[in-house]
Amino acid sequence: MNDQTHLIVGPGALGRLLAMHLADVVPVVLAGRRALPAEQILTTPEGAQRSRRLAVAELENLPAATPVCLHLTTKAYAAEAAYAAAMARLPGAPTLVLWQNGYQIQPELERRHPGPVVCASTTEGAWVNGDDAVTHAGRGITYLGDLANRHASACRELADLLGQAGLAAEAVEDIETRLWHKLAVNAAINPLVARFRIRNGQLRDRPFRPMVERIIAEVASILASEHVPPPTAGWHALVWQVIAATAKNRASMLQDVMAGRPTEREAILGPLLAAAQRHGIAAPCLSELDASLAQARPLQR
Ligand SMILES: NC(=O)c1ccc[n+]([C@@H]2O[C@H](COP(=O)([O-])OP(=O)(O)OC[C@H]3O[C@@H](n4cnc5c(N)ncnc54)[C@H](OP(=O)(O)O)[C@@H]3O)[C@@H](O)[C@H]2O)c1
Repeated sequence: MNDQTHLIVGPGALGRLLAMHLADVVPVVLAGRRALPAEQILTTPEGAQRSRRLAVAELENLPAATPVCLHLTTKAYAAEAAYAAAMARLPGAPTLVLWQNGYQIQPELERRHPGPVVCASTTEGAWVNGDDAVTHAGRGITYLGDLANRHASACRELADLLGQAGLAAEAVEDIETRLWHKLAVNAAINPLVARFRIRNGQLRDRPFRPMVERIIAEVASILASEHVPPPTAGWHALVWQVIAATAKNRASMLQDVMAGRPTEREAILGPLLAAAQRHGIAAPCLSELDASLAQARPLQR
């Protein structure tokens, strides 16, 4: 690892997608709690396959050198532990890039990390196929920005680099708004589909449609109190547009519940419920969904 290396911690779907692309243009080390096979296969959205040998490492055995960028690509609930484990082994303060959904770990690590912190909000879609393969399911775009707008040039450089690596990216000055918007859409879709174990498109039918409408109303009122500007088309149009575009999908939160894995419930519903409490806003639908997901158990097969 040298001072031009991009260290990617969290070797799951997004981490491997990023590693397989960035390794074309910069030195990359992909690190996790356990070492993955160095030979990894990427299936592109068009169905083509390419393999590449990556530098892989266990967090425990990271070389004591500071990379230029530390990308955290774990789920939101694991980001804190992954950050602590990586930083315990790195002597300096790399640019930290946070790829998590939700809006929980971002302000927290922005306060604590001694170097620049960049937040990434991505619509790329990927999943893993075992330990040695990743599928790039759908191309999207990654928005990069920092919460205090102090690192615009670092965001632009990173966006350029991702572009060279074949992942569309744009540096933006309103990343906080974009993170809240994505969180709002996730909050209106994911907990409901996970709770009722349905595909996204089924939200358009009864009895779910009025539930979605009530959640949108709660989310809109909470975000207005936080002075988060609404999307240009309005909250209802945005949420229903995403539901239509992802109608056949099983949301990752649903897949996590079905598999008995933890969900990103706290990173998505937590910030909304905390804001509701701060402003004295009732959020009965969100609270009820949060409580039911906290107790979610996988289906008996
Ligand atoms: N996948 C997508 O298409 C996509 C799109 C947009 C946004 N996102 C967001 O990106 C984030 C990552 O999602 P993902 O789908 O890539 O998740 P994922 O496939 O579950 O990958 C998470 C990775 O983090 C590793 N990990 C967990 N705890 C760790 C720790 N303490 N230290 C180091 N590594 C650790 C896991 O390894 P183990 O095998 O050790 O558990 C796993 O390899 C999430 O916030 C998600 O919402 C994902």
